[in-house]
Amino acid sequence: MTQFVLDCFYRPTDDLKGSRLEFALTNTSAKTAKNFTLAYTAVLRAEAGAALENADSFSRIANFHEVTPPAGLEISPGGTWKFAITGLANVARHRLDGPKSGYVSEGGKIVDVLCNDLETLEELDTGERRVIPEGKLETPLHIVPWPQQVGITAYQEGMHAFHVASGSVEEKAAAARINALSNRLFPESPYPFRFEQSHHQTDLQFDQENTLPEDGYRLRFSAEKATLTYGGNAGLGYGLTVLAQIAHGAYSDPDSFLFPAEGVIEDSPRFAWRGTHLDVSRHFRGTREVMRLLDILAWGRMNVFQWHLTDDEGWRLEIKAYPELTVSGARRGPGCQQVPQLGFASEVYEGSYTQDEIRDIVAHATSLNIDILPEIDIPGHCTAVLKTYPHLADQAETPESYHSIQGYPNNALNPAMEETYTFLEKVFCEIADLFPFGYIHIGGDEVDVKSWLASPKVQRLMDEKNLADTMEVQAYFMGRVRSILKKLGKKLAGWDEVSHGGGIDPDGVLLMAWQKQEVTRELIDQGYEVICTPGQRYYMDMAQASGWYEPGAGWAGVVTPEDSYLYEPSTGLSEGSEKLLKGVQACIWCEHLINNQLFNHMVFPRLYAVAEAGWTLPEKKDWQRFAALTPLFPEL
Ligand code: ACM
Repeated sequence: MTQFVLDCFYRPTDDLKGSRLEFALTNTSAKTAKNFTLAYTAVLRAEAGAALENADSFSRIANFHEVTPPAGLEISPGGTWKFAITGLANVARHRLDGPKSGYVSEGGKIVDVLCNDLETLEELDTGERRVIPEGKLETPLHIVPWPQQVGITAYQEGMHAFHVASGSVEEKAAAARINALSNRLFPESPYPFRFEQSHHQTDLQFDQENTLPEDGYRLRFSAEKATLTYGGNAGLGYGLTVLAQIAHGAYSDPDSFLFPAEGVIEDSPRFAWRGTHLDVSRHFRGTREVMRLLDILAWGRMNVFQWHLTDDEGWRLEIKAYPELTVSGARRGPGCQQVPQLGFASEVYEGSYTQDEIRDIVAHATSLNIDILPEIDIPGHCTAVLKTYPHLADQAETPESYHSIQGYPNNALNPAMEETYTFLEKVFCEIADLFPFGYIHIGGDEVDVKSWLASPKVQRLMDEKNLADTMEVQAYFMGRVRSILKKLGKKLAGWDEVSHGGGIDPDGVLLMAWQKQEVTRELIDQGYEVICTPGQRYYMDMAQASGWYEPGAGWAGVVTPEDSYLYEPSTGLSEGSEKLLKGVQACIWCEHLINNQLFNHMVFPRLYAVAEAGWTLPEKKDWQRFAALTPLFPEL
């Protein structure tokens, strides 16, 4: 039961040192609070050495703050303790940047604190909210992403299913799979495929044709029947998915969407890689939710799922050689080895996948033609690992000698210790067995430029190998990680910083360009294969309007659904270099996406904006059409 409410007001100044947070903790219980401390989590962090008013002291680990009131301070029932902190580590742009969760600790007893919206000066709020226009349909079909060629010349009403009139067992099995997919996503709509003739149905026939690409298909409609011609298994699944979408639209919104009676749809994807990334470290999503997200990707004909399984805030994947990773390494909260972060402060927050669950999820993805790219984020973002297995840190490294951008102290695996590579060999060996995909993603992002400089072991390595700075040490580390993966028959994928400090030989290396839009071109110019995923367009956690109350992060600016939709991933590429652009990816970071309501508000419809960028040629895209389709998109 909530017995305290924390209000927080943000007063920024031109410099972070002068920026100020004013807090008010109200006691809504019937008991006077005394001899207590307040803990709260907020991505808007107080700087070490910040000035306090009406508080005795504070400490902080990343987003977790603990504040001690002045000695003897009491809060009577209904009363309020006001205090202020001046001196912040970063800026706030939206209400969710403030305290998300907290607790009062009174004699060891933990009492939940409800954290109100972060408020700020009126002039800092533009009042803008997310806008998705009603849109306009030229063609009354519900299909997303839009196919390359749509030439439907006549429609019929009242139809909402197909009769699988003939076909091989593989074709019938594929139709059954898409039937099940459609029903999982939209149980309120009829199944799109029948295997026996009934009514309101068009006959469906199949035809495999080697001249079509493996992932290509053609749909030919007449009043009596539809024929699905496909290149390979992927094309068969995509053609069936499009038929299922047409049926879903015609049933769910018959005023807007119809069933084709004559004409052709001819289609294949623009890019081979149409990805979605999900961060399950900051906030865990269980097997059922991950499977549902895979269903949602399949519905949008997306074909890669990058699973961000580890980060500072928790390790989520069972590793038999290091069982504690999914015990203490997957848990945070009061009394745990890891303090609370990013919500759920007063309770123990935990979650991980067993290897059996991973195998089930991989099988589900495979059945939907989705490859899973597992991500183990190293060498940075490793607080959960280093807290769980402290022998992996250089004990002589000066504590707090560097901090990550998220505020974690000394959070990177040490490239000068052989234990590091032993650990990684064992971890990657299990991962290579679990995930059939040819790539493993090793992170490589956001290693602080001062990392390891206070580690005597790294200092020796730098002397020995003639490495000038942290980034060159990182490149040395990446080279060794790549050799480990090579021995396991896997190729290396990573974030764009893998190219820093001299990078690694680009042969077979795939990098995700995230920091800025120009990075896609820069990496391609260096010879890397690239997935375009700029934060400024394809990060699903960025707020969708400038208004203060709009949820989401703001470091990459405001990303409206239209911005995501209209972005052209090949912007700035020189002719001929486009072949290194392998595709696009939506990234779902979950610092702010702490429940499914927030997830849905942030991810949809932008996820399918990225799906359409990956599938549909630029000249075939149409924002008004896309907008008109959004009301029927599935959600988590
Ligand atoms: C990232 O957003 N740190 C890849």
